[in-house]
Amino acid sequence: MKVLVVFGTTEGQTRKIAEHIAKRVGEHGPNAQLFDCTSLPAEMDIDTYDAVVVAGSVHQHRHQTSVVHFVRKHLEGLQAKPTAFISVSLASVIEGDQKEARDYVDQFLAETGWRPTETFLVAGALLYTQYDFFKRQIMKLIVWRGGGPTDAGRDYEFTDWDALSEFVDSFVEMISP
Ligand SMILES: Cc1cc2nc3c(=O)[nH]c(=O)nc-3n(C[C@H](O)[C@H](O)[C@H](O)COP(=O)(O)O)c2cc1C
Repeated sequence: MKVLVVFGTTEGQTRKIAEHIAKRVGEHGPNAQLFDCTSLPAEMDIDTYDAVVVAGSVHQHRHQTSVVHFVRKHLEGLQAKPTAFISVSLASVIEGDQKEARDYVDQFLAETGWRPTETFLVAGALLYTQYDFFKRQIMKLIVWRGGGPTDAGRDYEFTDWDALSEFVDSFVEMISP
C-alpha cells in the first residue's frame, strides 16, 4: 500500500508534522512518500497512491497557496480515495478553543471544493527566535492579546505528538484492507 503525504510550511513546523505522519504510517507497513507542495515532482500521479494526507499551516487566516493549488489540481483524484487534511495553526492556543481553527479549515475546503475523508486540527509552534523583527512583534502582540506566552527569548511548541500519532494510527487502520 502506498500513502502520499504532502505539506505546505512557512516556518518548518508542518514539515516536522508531515515527517512524523510519514514515519508513523511507515511503521504500520504502508510505503509513505513525503513531498513539499512547493517542490512536487512534475510527473506526480496521485492515482498511484492508495491514500493521501495533505498538511498545511495557517498564516494570516489562510493556508499556504501551494497547498490550495495542490488540492485544486488533484481534486478529482483526491475525491476518489481516502484522504486526510491536517490543519496546523495556533488559534486553539490563542483563542482557548477550536472554533477559529475549524473556521480556517471550512474556508480552505470551501475554496478548494475538497471533501477529505478526515480532518484533524493540530496546534503548531511559536518560533520567536526564528522570526524576523516584524514577525516577532506581530506574533507577540497577537499572542499577548490571547493571554499566551510572550517571552520572545525562546520558542514554544504546542504540537500534541501523541494525539497526532493516534490520528495517524486510526487513519491507517481505516485505509487498511
Ligand atoms: C506571521 C504569522 C502569522 C500567523 N497567522 C496565524 C493566524 O492567522 N491564525 C493562526 O491560528 N495561527 C497563525 N500563525 C501561527 C502558525 O500557524 C503556527 O506558527 C504554525 O506552527 C506555523 O506552521 P509552519 O511552521 O509549518 O509554517 C501565524 C504565524 C506567523 C509567524
